[in-house]
Amino acid sequence: MTDAALDMEGVPERVAALFTGAQRDALIALRRDLHQHPELAFAETRSCAALERALAMANPVSVQRVAGTGLVARIRGRDPNAPVVAVRGDIDALPIHEATGLPYASQTAGVMHACGHDVHASWAIGAAYLLSNRPAAGDVLVVLQPAEEIGEGAAAVLQSGALDGVAAIFGAHVDRRFPVGQVVVQAGPMAAAADSFRITLTGRGAHGARPHESADPVLGAGLLIVALQGIVSRRVNPSIPAVLTVSTMQAGSAPNVIPETATIGGTLRAVDPATRALLADEMRRVAHGIAAAHDLIADVHIELGPPPIVNPANQSAWAHEAAVSLLGADGIVPLGITNMAGEDFAYYMERIPGAFLRIGAREPGGVVTAAHTPRFFAANGSLFVGAALLAETARVASAALTTLSTEDQ
Ligand code: NI
Repeated sequence: MTDAALDMEGVPERVAALFTGAQRDALIALRRDLHQHPELAFAETRSCAALERALAMANPVSVQRVAGTGLVARIRGRDPNAPVVAVRGDIDALPIHEATGLPYASQTAGVMHACGHDVHASWAIGAAYLLSNRPAAGDVLVVLQPAEEIGEGAAAVLQSGALDGVAAIFGAHVDRRFPVGQVVVQAGPMAAAADSFRITLTGRGAHGARPHESADPVLGAGLLIVALQGIVSRRVNPSIPAVLTVSTMQAGSAPNVIPETATIGGTLRAVDPATRALLADEMRRVAHGIAAAHDLIADVHIELGPPPIVNPANQSAWAHEAAVSLLGADGIVPLGITNMAGEDFAYYMERIPGAFLRIGAREPGGVVTAAHTPRFFAANGSLFVGAALLAETARVASAALTTLSTEDQ
């Protein structure tokens, strides 16, 4: 099989036929280029320039630089007064050393597109091409967002004001649990709140041989790590998903010295606001309780990350209609599990109604590899399915919003 055929593997003919030959070639070349030259959050200068060049083929009305290394391109609709819809692709990579062995593997040691954002950026450009081939009712903003992996890019794009007045926004993530040609388009939870915590226990240092003269923060930290496991198992309703992971611990530097402090840190995940608040409240209570029992002082710092993504009914129904028209009913599969990963698209959805979708990215015969690992790879075909679905969702949403706004008058 030729390289070009491999690139379209699993893409339904109806979807492949939407692109001109030149657009297909440009998108495949773009994806390979981005993959080969990954850049970390807010350092996506080369990627940004490549994306700006690729946008030219979509004849945008305007291209605005946002959030340092991001872009917002406006693709003209049929009616300049119709509501504006946005589609978003994130563009940043991860600090992971690639081990895929791909011919276009990362050329930057220790940096890799291990979450498929090279495909997300490319399908946003692909959506721009399709919307210039066949415009939506209103203008569509194509958002190329930096710094998703550190959870700061979406907020920075919103801060720029470029999305003010947008009536609906749609985004998606590759998912290798599903083959190319299948998508997840449903109402309900799609990503979890991702908060992080740091707890410092302060006691009294002492000689390691005279523990009775200390207030030992290392013992306190050990007990605290165990006690924290009781929150999810004994405070959260078992039918509601929640995660509390302790992933870092720092204390001491010499075998014969009991240190003054010990610090632990980790992440909290929940898909509803009540559970999110409960995890934080219980964490504080348990930390102060364990500290008091061992003559220590606990300093609990919880840093709020993105809120959960919960797709609302209307916007999900528009995406669903688009997916059925492109892929047929068989192309739509349930998410199946609750996704406890965070996604900073949630910040857009706090301000703008929208929906977040998942796009099958496993090539035929491929195995399931997890995102954020050195062998992760999203099949090229997912690029075309994602582009087509985002463009068609924008058209359906734009038409529905136009009807709604006419009825209002
Ligand atoms: Ni990602």
